[in-house]
Amino acid sequence: MSDPVSTGPRHVAIIMDGNGRWATQRGRPRLFGHRAGARRVREVVESCPDVGVEYLTIFAFSTENWRRTQVEVAGLMSLFRMYISREARALDQFGVRVRFIGDRVRLDAKLVTLMDDLEKLTCNNTAVHLTIALNYGSRDEVARATKRLARDVAAGNLDPDDVNEETLPKYLDTCVLPDPDLVIRTSGEARISNFLLWQSAYAEYEFIDTLWPDFTKEEFAQLCASYGGRDRRFGGVKT
Ligand code: IPE
Ligand code: IPE
Ligand code: MG
Repeated sequence: MSDPVSTGPRHVAIIMDGNGRWATQRGRPRLFGHRAGARRVREVVESCPDVGVEYLTIFAFSTENWRRTQVEVAGLMSLFRMYISREARALDQFGVRVRFIGDRVRLDAKLVTLMDDLEKLTCNNTAVHLTIALNYGSRDEVARATKRLARDVAAGNLDPDDVNEETLPKYLDTCVLPDPDLVIRTSGEARISNFLLWQSAYAEYEFIDTLWPDFTKEEFAQLCASYGGRDRRFGGVKT
């Protein structure tokens, strides 16, 4: 019998969706759902070693989420600041290495400082590699990567003939991460919403009905276990 841990996904990415609907169902403001959603993160992160997941990447705020009301956006930004301040110690003590991806330019300076500090605090940890996508969008990431790549070409540091599938991802925010093996989206929507488009070209997908604030480590473990039974062919044929 094969060991479920060794055949499980090494890198899982989660589109944490459904906070707003969860709150609405309870007759509460959307931010109530975002707060409940933030509280679910620790349990899932801390269950990663048990299911053999080394890398967990979570979608917290997209480049398109600025289209929401000012109240919701400001509430989310304040929640991110609070989350980092409150969770830093526990994440570090558990051995979580935290990284952020996305464009920091539009984020407020206080939040960016907290993000930088948390990355520094946890930079020697290895138990779980947690990447938080904040003001992240794949198209924006590719545009920013292309700009830097073009600058390297213009400066004579990169030969256009050397631009290929190995060199291009070095310019993406995820340059140090392996590609996701499994992408989970909660809340019943079967779409990607601009998340890790290049990186997930060959990922397996799970679209589940659970709203993010109801997601548990048990459901996470189940999804990781059923991933082990999938036949990933990467364009080849089964031998
Ligand atoms: C996901 O929950 C969290 C963010 C996008 C910040 P939503 O806020 O999108 O929840 P629904 O989709 O409206 O239920
Ligand atoms: C995707 O959810 C972004 C995050 C989970 C942070 P959205 O709720 O923003 O996606 P759409 O608008 O339904 O595609
Ligand atoms: Mg949503």
